[in-house]
Amino acid sequence: MPQKQGEVREKRLIMEIYSAYFFRSSQHYSQLPPADKPEFAFVGRSNVGKSSLINKLVNQKGMAKTSSTPGKTQLINHFVINKSWYLVDLPGFGYARVSKKTRAQFAGMIQDYVSKRSNLVTVFVLVDSRHEPQKIDLEFMEYLGISEVPFAIVFTKTDKLGKVALQTHVERYKAILLESWEELPPYFVTSADTGDGCAELRAYIGENLSLIGHAPSQKE
Ligand code: GTP
Ligand code: MG
Repeated sequence: MPQKQGEVREKRLIMEIYSAYFFRSSQHYSQLPPADKPEFAFVGRSNVGKSSLINKLVNQKGMAKTSSTPGKTQLINHFVINKSWYLVDLPGFGYARVSKKTRAQFAGMIQDYVSKRSNLVTVFVLVDSRHEPQKIDLEFMEYLGISEVPFAIVFTKTDKLGKVALQTHVERYKAILLESWEELPPYFVTSADTGDGCAELRAYIGENLSLIGHAPSQKE
């Protein structure tokens, strides 16, 4: 909920990242690391900026591999943060230029992952702030809702829009969501270029870790 983001800001929580490293790439659900740490996953269409935002969140340029060509991330990548929780970078869905079979495999992998992963705390659904709501994103959110998987929306690449256009786009996105949802999920307005929204995202992760009784390394 937007109010929730406000709440996070009000408390001025700071989530410090003091260590972040690549842990493992997995092709199938069965190969994932043990579900021994809380984890937060970044999901969204190819090229939306998942890997870039993960790097910005932890302040490490090359930790997650990024590319201007969509379809860069093809495996489920786990990163260990502060030695105690995972960030997960998933392949993008809906990339038109890969074969139908590969697309279906990615979709199956992502569905399997979000519906079965027991240590998954929140899925961040990344959407490009410049675009109209896309059917595939809305359907994915619906799937998360039905599967009772907590999620938040992350608007990306906001540096590419002026302030007014950005606000208009976000408001329009929210209005469309409210046509099918009673309440809005939490949302964040971010840029991997400027770092906008990253402190709020980190604080939100910290708040979620606290809620499940995990010490997230926070300073008031
Ligand atoms: P896949 O792994 O293919 O699914 O893509 P991804 O969602 O991980 O996207 P990635 O982070 O690789 O970024 C795709 C392209 O968008 C790269 O050229 C990035 O430099 C660019 N990009 C990502 N985030 C931002 C942003 O906030 N602002 C701007 N201007 N460019 C961005
Ligand atoms: Mg990627």
